Amino acid sequence: MRITVLTLFPEMVEPFFLSSIMKRAVEKGIIEYSIIDFRDFAEGVHRKADDLPYGGGAGMVIMPEPLSLALDSVGAKGKRVVFPTPSGRPLTESYAAELSREEELVFICGHYEGIDQRVIDTYVTDEITIGDYVLSSGETAAVVVIDALYRLIDGVIAGESLEDESFNGSLLEYPQYTRPPRYCMKSVPDVLLTGHHGHITRWRCVKRLEKTMLNRPDLLSDASLSIDERKTLLSILDCEDKRTCQRWMLSEL
Ligand code: ADE
Repeated sequence: MRITVLTLFPEMVEPFFLSSIMKRAVEKGIIEYSIIDFRDFAEGVHRKADDLPYGGGAGMVIMPEPLSLALDSVGAKGKRVVFPTPSGRPLTESYAAELSREEELVFICGHYEGIDQRVIDTYVTDEITIGDYVLSSGETAAVVVIDALYRLIDGVIAGESLEDESFNGSLLEYPQYTRPPRYCMKSVPDVLLTGHHGHITRWRCVKRLEKTMLNRPDLLSDASLSIDERKTLLSILDCEDKRTCQRWMLSEL
């Protein structure tokens, strides 16, 4: 996949491509990237790339000319162009998976109060939000979107590491432990030391359900749970939840 990032702050984005798993993906040739400072396309001695918003209001808006010249320089028309913005469509694992199947992606990093709407109308195919909060820079959001999608490309991460992950099957991930077996008066759960595959799988299933129930109960209604998982869920719920869930389970079965 070829990833192009258009930004006014290349130094915020570059380290991501030079570190850890992304660095390896670049070295293996799975990812090619370029980071373009679109201020280079701005005119005048001050190379101004932003201006006051028409109609008044706080902050600055990124001007259309330098950004569209930068977009044209990478042939963005006809490509998938992502603009991270709080008013976009929410990023999910399945959305990330869809993007991971593209051969090329172009990212526009906004700053200040955003970018001129005419650039969005002309070039952007995907406005994406990474959550219901506002960041001071689009660069951090772009890196989040890139991170969520590139790791799903074949060869970046071992397939089995992806299988048990949070959101795979709409449940959150089970807790992980490593050596030492006892740390700060806390022991690794006995079942993980038994080597009994069946018991470990069952324990992990219970933990995924418990965690999802606790942190993201909203995910449970969409989760594709087996009958066994549904029974397990019932057994770990308290009475109040049990009545609601029993009704839901009966309606689904
Ligand atoms: N830019 C600023 N906040 C953002 C958010 N929540 N998602 C995507 N891009 C953003």
